[in-house]
This record gives sequence, C-alpha cells and structure tokens, in this order.
Amino acid sequence: MAYQNLTVTVESRIATVTVNRPDKLNALNDATIAELGVVIDDVRTRREVAGVILTGAGRAFVAGADIAELADQTAQAARARAVRGQAIFRRFETSPKPVIAAVNGFALGGGCELAMACHVRIASDTAKFGQPEVKLGLIPGYGGTQRLPRLVGRGRAMHLLLTGETIDAAEALRIGLVDRVVAAAELPGAARDMMVRMLANGPLALAACIDSVDRGLDGTLDDGLALEAEHFGALAASIDMVEGIRAFLEKRLPVFTGT
Ligand code: COA
Repeated sequence: MAYQNLTVTVESRIATVTVNRPDKLNALNDATIAELGVVIDDVRTRREVAGVILTGAGRAFVAGADIAELADQTAQAARARAVRGQAIFRRFETSPKPVIAAVNGFALGGGCELAMACHVRIASDTAKFGQPEVKLGLIPGYGGTQRLPRLVGRGRAMHLLLTGETIDAAEALRIGLVDRVVAAAELPGAARDMMVRMLANGPLALAACIDSVDRGLDGTLDDGLALEAEHFGALAASIDMVEGIRAFLEKRLPVFTGT
C-alpha cells in the first residue's frame, strides 16, 4: 500500500516504519494515525516480517497529535479520536512480533505515547520526551495517563503529566521511560542490532513473552503465573522448542520455523 505520511521498508525480516511529516515534526494528524493502523495490521500479518522498528523522519520522532486538528474538535469527536488512536496504539503493544521504538528526536504528547506502546525504546542522546497536553488544557488521549505510570511509577508520571515539562534522553533513561540511549548517529544501527538479537530467537517464544508480560502485568500475580504456565506448556509442544534444545545440546545455532 502507498502511504502519504509513512515510509515502510522491509529488509532481513525487519520492517522499518518511519513517520514522515518532517515539516510538521511528524505530528500525528488523523490521516497519519489511520496509516499507523493500516501498517501495524499489515506487518502483523506479513509472513516475511518478523519485527518492527518505528522511527521518525528528520529531527522529531513524533511531536504529538496534530494541534491544528484539535482546535475545533467537539467533545464527542475528541472522545472518538482518543478511542480510535488508543485502539491503534494497542495493536502495536499487542503485536506478537517485537516492536522497537527508535526515538530519534522529539517524542512529545502522542509521540511519547506511541513510543510507550512499543515493546522497547532506544533513544538518541538528542531525544526529548514529555506529555505537554496540560499546557493546551488537555490530557494525553492515546494512553499516556495509563502507560506512563506503569513504566516510570506513579510519582514520576504525575510530575511529567502535571508540569507538562520536557525531559532529555539521559533523564528518560534514569526514570525508565527509555531502555537505552545511544549517540544520534548510532541509533538506526543500535535498533537494528537489538532487533536482530531478538529475531535470532523462536518467534513463538517471542510472542508468548510479549503476551505474558502484556496480559500478566495488569492482573494478579497468580493470574499472571497461570498465563505464563499456559504459554510454557504450549511452547513445549512446539517444533521450535525441540529444535532449540537439540541445537543447544548439539552445540550449533537453532533454526526456528515458528511452528
Ligand atoms: N502539531 C502540529 N504541528 C506541529 C506540532 C504539533 N504537535 N509540533 C510541531 N508542529 C509544527 C509547527 O507548527 C511548525 O510548523 P510551521 O513551520 O508550519 O509553523 C513545525 O512543526 C516546526 O515546529 P516549530 O515549533 O517551529 O519547531 P521548534 O524547534 O521551534 O519547536 C517543539 C519544537 C517540539 C518544541 C514545538 O514544535 C512544540 O512545542 N510542538 C508541540 C508539542 C506538543 O504540545 N505536543 C502535544 C500535542 S497534544
């Protein structure tokens, strides 16, 4: 499919999705949100894609929802916009294929929310993070009030949400909002290297890890443990587990097939 506001390349089983409205710092207008919905469903189902790297063109990752479109929204339209965007971000978060955010610059508002919906965040040392919606008389609408406290804790999330302040990559790393920081020039390579290391593993196991963490974290510990045991049992019936264990014992690299 041809996208207006995204570029998508696939190489060595890795889809790189780049939000591409650099003149607007990749702000998420409704059209871009819709395209993100199309691309995540596409890469989730494409057999030749095993993982996704999400990044931005130019000096921003994503500088938020497109403020121009928010100006005249009715209460009903705003609520619907939030619900639509939340559902699409959730498709990233629940993707059985790993999704890495390579945060190359501003990740503000919806950009910070989009990065948080990815499984892992690697940031350039020039990246900036924040949820500045309160400065517009709004709150985050794409999951920020829910994912930020889950990632960094209630107090730090409240601090960022209530001040609307922007933090740099080093501070984002310190509070656990990002998982790694690298020099700007190294970001694409670092994201790719991490993805290659993930994709060396069994795809069924990757999907089971993602689902166990995703569904397990929001329930009770006992429910999470039951879910983990369920996945552990299902994987024991897979050809990939037999191959993984045999390869270890035979001192060779495994060849996983996703079966
Ligand atoms: N929505 C719509 N347009 C945006 C945007 C957004 N969230 N963020 C940036 N842009 C546009 C600017 O309007 C400008 O467009 P123009 O050249 O047509 O005037 C262009 O992107 C470049 O931004 P500019 O503000 O000139 O760059 P800067 O380096 O001076 O500042 C930011 C960068 C990120 C600090 C600033 O753009 C900003 O505060 N953006 C809004 C962030 C925000 O509040 N996001 C949450 C929205 S809910």
